[in-house]
Amino acid sequence: ENTQLKDIVAHAKEYGFVFQSSEIYDGLAAVYDYGPNGVELKNNLKRLWWEAMTQLHGNVVGIDAAIFMDPRTWEASGHVAGFNDPLIDNLDSQKRYRADVLIEEKAAEYERAGDPARAAALTATLGRLLTENDLAGVKQLILDEKIVDPLSGSAKWTDVRQFNLMFSTQGSAVDSDAPPVYLRPETAQGIFVNFLNVQKSARQKIPFGIAQIGKAFRNEIVARQFIFRMREFEQMEMQFFVRPGTEGEWYDTWKAARRRFHEAIGLAPEKLRFHDHDKLAHYAKAAVDIEYEFPFGFKEIEGIHSRSDFDLTQHQNLSRKKQQYFDNDLNPDTGKPYGNYVPYVVETSVGADRLFLATLCQAYQEETITEGEGEEQTTKTRTLLKLHPALAPIKAAIFPLVRKDGMPEKAQEIFDSLRFDFRLVIEDKDAIGKRYTRQDLIGTPFCIVVDGQTLEDDTVTVRDRDTREQTRMPISALRAYIGERVSF
Ligand code: GAP
Repeated sequence: ENTQLKDIVAHAKEYGFVFQSSEIYDGLAAVYDYGPNGVELKNNLKRLWWEAMTQLHGNVVGIDAAIFMDPRTWEASGHVAGFNDPLIDNLDSQKRYRADVLIEEKAAEYERAGDPARAAALTATLGRLLTENDLAGVKQLILDEKIVDPLSGSAKWTDVRQFNLMFSTQGSAVDSDAPPVYLRPETAQGIFVNFLNVQKSARQKIPFGIAQIGKAFRNEIVARQFIFRMREFEQMEMQFFVRPGTEGEWYDTWKAARRRFHEAIGLAPEKLRFHDHDKLAHYAKAAVDIEYEFPFGFKEIEGIHSRSDFDLTQHQNLSRKKQQYFDNDLNPDTGKPYGNYVPYVVETSVGADRLFLATLCQAYQEETITEGEGEEQTTKTRTLLKLHPALAPIKAAIFPLVRKDGMPEKAQEIFDSLRFDFRLVIEDKDAIGKRYTRQDLIGTPFCIVVDGQTLEDDTVTVRDRDTREQTRMPISALRAYIGERVSF
């Protein structure tokens, strides 16, 4: 089932996209580093998201809040009390599991065995027990369903207990009794506590949004799906503040807008779907996931949540600072201004790393190519990353055909004339075919070849990654040709 993911993990390492963190020490679980091509791809994704939010919408502005916040933030948000996973240990293997995941895997087993009704009943029971925080009931369910440790086959389990997912660290260098500070588990709270600062300083009127990209941290237990579930990851979140009563329309508007974004950056429409939540997070009134079909199945890449006035009201209560907005617009029912209220919030929240993984899975392709005719016909396979050109780490590679006759100098001249517009590379080693292959593997959309004719008439060939077709054009046409194709 995971063979394709394995290919992608290997490819990501070999071509400088993603490395295991601290690999020389055998790696830190569920933490990853981005390599030279990875950081370019990730930055491109973040830039497109940022532009789609703050540039395409006049009423969405950005912030960059700190990772550390007053610890009371997380009491108000509900994370201290409620941001937990139910854990269970197997007494024989000493292995730790998420109790809910063990039960969900059992439900998936019923589903595969052709008993969807039993699968649905089990999921529903689990949802009810978790909502009631009935941990003894969760353990009983594991025993009743005869769920065994997937590794040892043993059915000897400990009790189920709640485990808080927030990382904490010492808050003060001088006062050892000072409360710990948390590494934020979501970027959203940095936006909520700045709601009035932003609204006033950016002179925003409701409805308006605040966007942010930043790191978040969760002490996740299950972590075997590469960068899908990490302990340190990056979120791209936008909180949209609306008049109470209009949240339904805005929820639908953002749901559609976010799906369009994923399609525009190249995720296949048939690999995207909406999944409505049965079990809502503590803050949500309605929630939908945008799921992408990874090699390991349809999984969440983005969450869209209708959070009502939950967060702002909680912060208002704990901080004793009003979190209200005065709405001058006239209410047609009363003929008077809507007046003071705590706004409602519709949130869109996408993981930069998950979007990166989806993009890589979508782009990674193995193609069979047939060349020649009749008896001369040969077939071979090529691996390539069919990335949207706007996302490609390198936009064009320049190849001097041979390392003499002034071709390297000409290649350098082209590089210098375009370096302010695009990220380029000059490649002069190996045969041209090998150089094309190397660029295909990292998703470079264009390869420019400087040959003998270039020296005579200042034209080059431009080879297209996807069609492998070559077009001859004047050097002076390159900027417009590439520019048009790498724009979003
Ligand atoms: N503020 C709402 C919020 O944080 P969430 O559904 O918990 O909602 C939003 O997270 C997104 O963040 C997810 O859709 C996912 O893309 C990303 N995300 C969450 N946990 C993650 C993890 N452990 N590793 C990587 N990405 C994660």
